[in-house]
Amino acid sequence: MHNPTPLHAEFGVRLECPSIEALDIAALRQLIDRYSFIHIPGIASGDETHLALTRSLGEPEAEHVRLGREGKVAWFGTVGNVREDGTVRRNDHKETVYQTGNNMWHSDSSFRAVPSFVSITCAYETPDEGGETLFASQRSAWNRLAASDQTRLEPLVAIHDYVYSRTKVHPDAVMATHAASLPPVRQRLVRRNPQTGAKNLYIGSHAREVEGWSFEKSRDLLDGLLEETTADEHVLAHRWRPGDLVIWDNRCLLHRGAGFDADRYRRYMRQTRVKGAGPTLEE
Ligand code: OGA
Ligand code: MN
Repeated sequence: MHNPTPLHAEFGVRLECPSIEALDIAALRQLIDRYSFIHIPGIASGDETHLALTRSLGEPEAEHVRLGREGKVAWFGTVGNVREDGTVRRNDHKETVYQTGNNMWHSDSSFRAVPSFVSITCAYETPDEGGETLFASQRSAWNRLAASDQTRLEPLVAIHDYVYSRTKVHPDAVMATHAASLPPVRQRLVRRNPQTGAKNLYIGSHAREVEGWSFEKSRDLLDGLLEETTADEHVLAHRWRPGDLVIWDNRCLLHRGAGFDADRYRRYMRQTRVKGAGPTLEE
């Protein structure tokens, strides 16, 4: 359905569809399980249809920054430098600096006890240069490992910690109330797609250490796996255009921002996330 065109040898597909309402949701779910990354150009049409699509894929996730800082439930986060009133945050604005935390490889919400299933992003204003989002498959990374390494890694648990990852960018990047709302969580290092049985690594910037291991030994493993997973030939770079709708599977993909010049360009994208099925340790 929707004429899927593959985008990379390992994952990713582009679909043609006239509108969000015309999407075949059952088929979309299968494409997510199989391709992990779905790009549908030209159909972003505002928050209402975006939220309806989100709900058709599951339960929306409350955006963690608003929740942590203000205790308010909001379904949308804004990616980029354009505020609600249309004004722009430039390179030296602290929120622009904090958002560069997204330029480290990560999986959205891996720092939550129930991490995200998919992120859904609609692009409205995009820079003429830069601002790509890069993606890499932790499923193909798993498949490239030697069987002996797979056996060694499979039982491990990683501690994911938002304060650990975000304070790398700036010591004040996480407000006290926000930090208190996101204590470190335990996640499986190796996950399995419940529909297909396909396994994948589950790492990224929020993964601080391996449970029961020293910090140094943990970093050796996690940094080495991350480097291998995200080597250039395994990366799909998505160049955003206004109207794009992109869905990615956070269970098995890593992504990061490539960065852009916020003094020269506007970047305005809206994002929702669908909650995962439960804690990864119970999968
Ligand atoms: C995201 C994200 C990085 C970027 O949208 O979840 O991490 O700037 N984006 O493209
Ligand atoms: Mn992200």
